[in-house]
Parts: sequence; C-alpha cells; structure tokens
Amino acid sequence: MKREGEKIAMVTAYDYTTAYLVDQAGVPIILVGDSLGMVVLGYRSTIPVTMEDMIHHIKAVSRGSRGSLIVGDMPFMTYQIDESQALLNATRFLQEGGAHAVKLEGGEQVAETVRRIVATGIPVLGHIGLTPQSVNQFGGYRVRGNTKAEAAQLLRDAIALQEAGAFGIVLELVPSLLSKLITEKVTVPTIGIGSGPHCDGQVQVINDIMGLFTKFIPKHTKQYARLSDTILDALKSYMEEVRTGKFPTSKESFGGYEVTQTDTDH
Ligand code: KIV
Repeated sequence: MKREGEKIAMVTAYDYTTAYLVDQAGVPIILVGDSLGMVVLGYRSTIPVTMEDMIHHIKAVSRGSRGSLIVGDMPFMTYQIDESQALLNATRFLQEGGAHAVKLEGGEQVAETVRRIVATGIPVLGHIGLTPQSVNQFGGYRVRGNTKAEAAQLLRDAIALQEAGAFGIVLELVPSLLSKLITEKVTVPTIGIGSGPHCDGQVQVINDIMGLFTKFIPKHTKQYARLSDTILDALKSYMEEVRTGKFPTSKESFGGYEVTQTDTDH
C-alpha cells in the first residue's frame, strides 16, 4: 500500500462485536492496543495491563474478525527483561490469542528484541514517539521530537526498527515535519497517531473516533459519531418505558401453554 501511495487505516478494537463491525467495514488492520487499560478497564495509564488482560481481549477480537490483520500490543515489562521473555510472550499472542502480529514500544533499545521475534516468524510493528508505557519517564503525554536531539534520536529509532525487520512503525505525537522526514527515510509504512498527514497510515482508538468517551477528547482525534449521546438517549428511553410499563409489549413476549388455576391446585 505504501508503494502504491494508498493510505492505510488502522483502528483499535477490544471485543468481539466491535471487531466484527471493524472487519465488516473493511479496515485492514485492527490493533488490540494496551489502551484497553484506559478505555475499557478504567486504569489511569497502560502500565497495569497484563498479558492475561491482553490475551483475553485478543481472543475476543480474533473471533469477531475474519479479514483484518490483528496486531496485539505487548504490555509494559513483557518484552523488556530479556529476549526469551519477549519471544515467549509474543508467541502466546499468536498461539493463545489468535493475533497475526505484535506491537512493542521503543526504538534502538528494543531493536535486537524485534530482530529475534521477527526471526522466529512473528511480524512486529514498532512504536516510537510518545510511547505511553514510558509516561512516567516523559512526565506526561506530550509531543516527542520537538528538540534537535529528540528528532535525531527518533529518526535513528525508525531506521533501527526497519533494519531489525519491523513491518511498520507507529509514530505517536511526533511533529508533522519530522513524521514526513521519517516516512520518506524508511521503506516500511509509518502509521501516525497525532503525527500529521504525511504518515503512510493512521491509527486511532475506536472509543475516541466513535465519541464513546467525552470526558476527555484528545486533540489528535476526530469524532465520526457521538455514540455516547446516542447510548444515553437510548438508555433514558428504555428506563422510561420500563418505569411506565410500555416495555415489554406482547411483541417482545412469548405465548405458550395457558396455565389455569387447576394446573396449580395440589
Ligand atoms: O494502545 C494503543 O491503542 C496504541 C495506539 C494508540 C497506537 O498503542
């Protein structure tokens, strides 16, 4: 797609029903992101997410999807200790979860791990820029690559990931011009989130683009629907109809044997 200049759409999904819809829409890549920690499990960051959490949700997504490439996001500290830990955990995503590929955060410092995982036959998607698992080190969810030194490091990271065999690289919260440069310098696709229009593709968290969570709307997102309003209206109507006895009617009820008083006499 990169070679042909066709932009790549990628979106997160965490459950069967959503994956089914994403698949039906024909989105080529589903990311089961560790963002599930925040948007599904209610944590304040992605750090508490475990392998078990991820596998549970990857399984659901792979049951719902037939055609999309499913990428499972490796949680914090499941690939950093050593390469055998990373290999074992990446394998679990494919064998137990049904993912087709894994994503992990980091550049040069994880390149050797990426190389080992790819060498075993597991495709790897890189992720640089704002890497949320390092939020405590960065001191917040901020744009990365704003200084000369950071920009140069991000370019080195992208090249290291490509050389290690990553099939693509997510660029998160990277300034547009730097994303453009990185996109031109690597032959693998760059997938941006908050990184401007020059990336080869875009990824978004489904809850954000569907307007499911409106307490905080990241600048990099666009709401293609306001499902939170639709759901709230529907819930209020349901509650009102239950309260007033309008629901259920005979249409939502079942006939059958008509019980008489004698049936219940002993
Ligand atoms: O976990 C996630 O959803 C992600 C994307 C934001 C790239 O890593």
